[in-house]
Amino acid sequence: MSDSAPTAKRDGFTSSFGVLAATLGSAVGLGNIWKVPYMTGANGGAGFLLVYLLATLLIALPVMMAEIAMGREAKANPITALQRLAPRGLPWWLIGAFGMLAAFLIMSFYSEVVAWVFAYIVKAIDGSILSSDPAVTGAAFGQLISDPLQSLLWQWFVLVFIGGILLLGVAKGIEAVTKKLMPLLFVLLLVLCAVSLSLDKAAEGLRFLFQPDFSKLSASVVLMAMGLAFFKLSIGMGTMMTYGSYFRDEQNIPATTVRVMTADLFISMLAGIAIFPAVFTFGFEPAAGPSLVFITIPAVFAQIPMGHLLMVLFFVLTAVAATGAMLSLLEVPVAIIHERFGLTRRKATLISLLILALAGSTCALTNSTLAEFKLFGMTMFDLFDFLSSNLLLPLGGILICLFAGWVWGEERLLQALSNRGTLANQRLVGILFLLLRFVTPALILVVMLKGLALF
Ligand code: PFF
Repeated sequence: MSDSAPTAKRDGFTSSFGVLAATLGSAVGLGNIWKVPYMTGANGGAGFLLVYLLATLLIALPVMMAEIAMGREAKANPITALQRLAPRGLPWWLIGAFGMLAAFLIMSFYSEVVAWVFAYIVKAIDGSILSSDPAVTGAAFGQLISDPLQSLLWQWFVLVFIGGILLLGVAKGIEAVTKKLMPLLFVLLLVLCAVSLSLDKAAEGLRFLFQPDFSKLSASVVLMAMGLAFFKLSIGMGTMMTYGSYFRDEQNIPATTVRVMTADLFISMLAGIAIFPAVFTFGFEPAAGPSLVFITIPAVFAQIPMGHLLMVLFFVLTAVAATGAMLSLLEVPVAIIHERFGLTRRKATLISLLILALAGSTCALTNSTLAEFKLFGMTMFDLFDFLSSNLLLPLGGILICLFAGWVWGEERLLQALSNRGTLANQRLVGILFLLLRFVTPALILVVMLKGLALF
C-alpha cells in the first residue's frame, strides 16, 4: 500500500478478498503463534483465554469497526483523518499522535521477536534445536537472547530487510506472496495440532487451555487480556484507520471485521492446541514467558517424520507472517511523517527506521547488557509492551469510542457502516452505537483503572 502525496489519489485495495487478506495479515502477525500462547501460559490458561475472548467481542470488535469506518470516510493517515472528521476545537488528532507513539513502542520489541524468528530459521536448518528435551531447546534460546551482538545484529537485519521492502517499493509484491503462503502456515498448524493431540499428556494440555480456573484471575490479569485483544486486532493506534482509508466504498465493514476476528481467534486456538499438550508431555514450563513457542514447537517437530524440513518451513512461514505485520506497523509513522511533514516516503521510512534502531536496541539488549536496567520494575522489552498494550492502545480505544459515539454521531456512523444505506444492517449498527457510546468505553476505563490499581 502506498500513497504519493496528501492530495493525490490514494491507492486502495482492489478486491474484496484483498481487503480481507490484508486486514487479517496485520491482525495475525506473530501474535497468534507467539503472544497469545505465552500470555495464556503465564496467566493460568483457560480463565485468561475466556476474558480475552470477552474483551475481543465487547471491546475490540466495536472499536475495530469504528476505526475502519472512520479511516474509510476520511481517507487519510490517522492524524489528518481526525482533523478531517472532527469539528474544530478539541484536539482529537491526538489519537493519531498517540498511535504513532504506540507503533514505535510495539515495533521496538516486536522487531526483536521477529529477529528471533529469523535466527530460528538458521537454527532450524542446522538442526541444533530439533529436540524434545526442554534443556536442549531452552539452552538454544537462552544462548541466542543472552548474546548482545547476535540479538542486535538480527534485529538490524530485520530492520534493513523491512526497510528494503518499503524502499524498493515491493511491499505490494510481499503482500501478494504473504497471501499465498499463509494458507500453508495454517495447514502446518493443523499438522502440529494433530501431532500434539496424539501426545501422552494431550488431555492435560487441553484442560489447561479450556477448563477455566478463575482463581488465577486478578484485575491486572484482566487488564493484560484486554491489552492483548487490542494488540491482536491491531487497533487503538490508527493501524486499522490507515487500513480503512484503503477500503473500497462497497466493502462491508462489519462483515469483514467479524471474519477477521473469527479467523484470528481460530488461528490462536490452533496455536494453543499445538503448544500446550507438548508443554505438559515433555515437562516444559507453561509460564515460560516470551520464549514459550521457541522452546516448545521444536519438541513437536522432533516427533514427526520429516520434522527437520517441516520445522524450517514453519519458521520461514512465521517470518513471512511477521514481516507482514511489521510492514503494517511501520505504515503508521511512515504515512504520518510523509503526509504531515511533506517528506518523501523514502525519507519518512528512513527516519522511522532510525528511531526504531535506537529504541529497539534497548529491547534487543534486554536479556544481556541491559538485563539489570529496569524502569517501574520492568525491563525495556516488558515496559514497551506494557505501555503500548495496557495504556496507549486502550486509551486510543476509549478516544475512538467517544469520538465515534458522541462527536461523529449515530447518523454518520450508520451512513458509513451501512454503505450509505445499501446494506440492511441498521439494527446492528444501532447496537454498535450503544456499545460505542456507553458500554465499551466504560468497560475499558474500569478495566484500566482496576488493572493499574488506581481505584
Ligand atoms: N496484531 C499483530 C499481532 O498480533 O502480531 C501485532 C500488531 C500489528 C499490532 C500491527 C499493532 C499493529 F498496528
